[in-house]
Amino acid sequence: MSAMVQEAVQQHSSPSEAAARTDLVPIFIMGKRYMVPSTLTIQKAFEYAGYQLIRGCGCRGGICGACATVYRTPGSAKINVGLACQTVVQPNMYLTMVPFFPANRAVYDIEELKPDAQTLLKYYPELAKCMGCNTCTKSCPMDIPVMEYISAAIRGDVEKAAEISMSCVMCGICASRCPAELGQYNIAIMCRRITGRHIWPKAQHVAEMVEKINSGRYDKPLEQLMKADLETLRKLYVERQMEPHTTPEDWTPDDKSFI
Ligand code: SF4
Ligand code: SF4
Ligand code: FES
Repeated sequence: MSAMVQEAVQQHSSPSEAAARTDLVPIFIMGKRYMVPSTLTIQKAFEYAGYQLIRGCGCRGGICGACATVYRTPGSAKINVGLACQTVVQPNMYLTMVPFFPANRAVYDIEELKPDAQTLLKYYPELAKCMGCNTCTKSCPMDIPVMEYISAAIRGDVEKAAEISMSCVMCGICASRCPAELGQYNIAIMCRRITGRHIWPKAQHVAEMVEKINSGRYDKPLEQLMKADLETLRKLYVERQMEPHTTPEDWTPDDKSFI
């Protein structure tokens, strides 16, 4: 048995399955070598190699930002970053996941915040230490111009910072690389909150829905769901009407009792 096949067998394949595989590539997870199928994402490669992901694994779809990963490839000093659920393995990559990175997170009462630079600097004085190196932008797996929203925040253009950072998944990679020790994503979410609360008009449809919830309209159906047995819940789930993939903006389900 070749070393490659031996390793594949260790990774839960049967000897015949492993021998038949020609697509295995070596990767190094926290320094240990594993052979994994070349088409897997880093997240699936972890699991193929026998790891159980309890932290650092959420949506599996590039949305939640839980699976930040850093890696290097041979012959390059560059530290690469990516989301483990979105990045496909490369032969001989050295990697580890960084599912959490500690960053300063201010506590505030949103009602008291103002959309200006003074407010942002009061809660995040480290903003003033940004040296414009652009490392944050280069490290963002969502291709967000991070330095641009930090610059907008420094100028007090809270709305611009909110707009630029809207697709941030809070993975924390930018913060892990910042030489000025900013927690960019926490500053960005503060800007989005201030914008939503103090700059943009209230979303009418959300206000209407909150009113319906507060009126008790959903209390009884929710109570019924809480009391339902597993079989009933399964049936409801399987038979639920799903929104088609392509549909007009104003699509609604046939049963309108929950909207
Ligand atoms: S990495 Fe830090 S110091 Fe560099 S531009 Fe981004 S926020 Fe500023
Ligand atoms: S801005 Fe920072 S926290 Fe947000 S997605 Fe980009 S790297 Fe992740
Ligand atoms: S698991 Fe949610 S972004 Fe990767």
